[in-house]
Amino acid sequence: TMEPVDGQEDWLRMAREHPVMRMTRNDKELGMDYVNIPHVVAMVGLPARGKTYIAMKLARYLNWVGLPTKVFNVGDYRRQAMGSYQGHDFFHPRNREGTNIRNKCALDALQDVCEFLQSGGMVAVYDATNTNQERRELIHHVICQRMGYKLFFIESICNDPKIIETNIMECKVTNPDYTNMEKEDAVKDFLKRIEHYRSMYEMLDEEKESQYSFMKIFDAGRRVVVHKQEGHIESRIAYYLMNIHITPRCIYLTRHGESVYNQLGRIGGDTDLSHRGRQYANALAKFISSQNIPCLRVWTSCMKRTIQTASGISAPQERWKALNEIDAGICEGLTYEEIQEQYPDEFAARDQNKCSYRYPRGESYEDVLVRLESVIMELERQENVLVVGHQAVLRCVLAYFLDKSAAELPYLKVPLHTIIRLIPQAYGCKVEFFKIPIDCVDTHRAKPVMTRSDEGKEEDMQGASSEVDVIDGVQVSVLQGLVEGLSVYDNVSPSSQDDMNSQL
Ligand code: ATP
Ligand code: F6P
Repeated sequence: TMEPVDGQEDWLRMAREHPVMRMTRNDKELGMDYVNIPHVVAMVGLPARGKTYIAMKLARYLNWVGLPTKVFNVGDYRRQAMGSYQGHDFFHPRNREGTNIRNKCALDALQDVCEFLQSGGMVAVYDATNTNQERRELIHHVICQRMGYKLFFIESICNDPKIIETNIMECKVTNPDYTNMEKEDAVKDFLKRIEHYRSMYEMLDEEKESQYSFMKIFDAGRRVVVHKQEGHIESRIAYYLMNIHITPRCIYLTRHGESVYNQLGRIGGDTDLSHRGRQYANALAKFISSQNIPCLRVWTSCMKRTIQTASGISAPQERWKALNEIDAGICEGLTYEEIQEQYPDEFAARDQNKCSYRYPRGESYEDVLVRLESVIMELERQENVLVVGHQAVLRCVLAYFLDKSAAELPYLKVPLHTIIRLIPQAYGCKVEFFKIPIDCVDTHRAKPVMTRSDEGKEEDMQGASSEVDVIDGVQVSVLQGLVEGLSVYDNVSPSSQDDMNSQL
């Protein structure tokens, strides 16, 4: 199938005839320079430069901040069109059939990008190599001239052979293209694929393509160039991408130990740990020291229960006001039953839309998400961190790392006396749960079933029991050894809150 053709003719004909070239936004607003119009983020770069990683991570962040975002990966379209993988020759620039199929997939994906943005999407991430000027010109023509959307290119340039090798080992040899190939052969094939692209690659040219908005990321973030960035969505994207890194690390999350209010079934407040909660604090300190985590940082809220929980851990500690539990306003200090009795309408309204519902004179989950953005950004910059937080706050943090929707978020299971470990991996995060077997109450209230006959019943009965051994499909490990010979940590007293070193 190798032909000495210049694929130009095929490409021009195909592009001209493709339905994406007939797409347009025919409303009056086309051409108006609004700020909040949909955006296309188009990736640029050779294979194994982290384009998909950046695309997926960015989408997770933007969805979490409330901007509906979707990734369109042209590799997926190719796999759909081709079925089984054909080897690196398919990507040879003189393979006419391969080039035509890849071009068609790129146009089909671009059409889906437009359709997604026409039907309510806010940001579409177009994840392809987009390695030549002609291709970028076509994207600009469709997205900006015909559709009137904003376009932001993100180019990843990386010539560090170590990073490329790690990327191939971590994300490529495990890719569906290579399921039937030995690891070594897969690496060799992938390196050849990169060479085929390199022979045609034109980097974004700051002069010739100066009319575009773009960002260049060099060597996994060592240096960044931002060119003609426009509006708050693009600056948010650029700021976010300037804060992320790929150094391996772990993030540990735990709620405070059981508090006096937890035992009484009351929400909110600022009470001390219960006796069992202090035992948890002790076991947590033992667990953390047994892990020998390099350069660990500990972050707590400014509430007594998280400060007491962390007080036995020997690592630098910081307090964040942004990590304080959701403010339940007029319902602070009540039990769920009391809320239902005293404020039945409020109670019912919260079940209708828990994420948006705001307690009178208090907060909603959406409010908590907003104040947590600075914590998330700082977590991205850090390496090993333990966050000692609260039920609602940690649900928001987990939703970010595990890509959970706003509907699922307020019902995520974050039991007391359980340590959650997040390990960034490939395009997402691996999650592990470690339960410390010290009795505690269960504060999870499951979403009530909304059908008439089932009224009042809970959707998920697991929530009513503290014997949870699987969370979100992940097996919970029980750390038996940590509680043997346990005594209550002597240093844990309400006065230990005085040792706070900063108020953020
Ligand atoms: P392809 O074109 O084959 O789809 P790709 O450019 O999309 O390749 P990814 O699959 O995203 O490459 O590569 C993932 C790997 O890239 C991860 O291991 C991640 O750690 C790493 N990575 C993330 N950001 C960068 C970056 N800015 N530069 C280089 N590597 C990065
Ligand atoms: O019950 C413990 C607690 O942290 C309360 O302080 C808080 O109001 C509640 O959990 C949040 O959970 P939910 O949103 O499910 O009521």
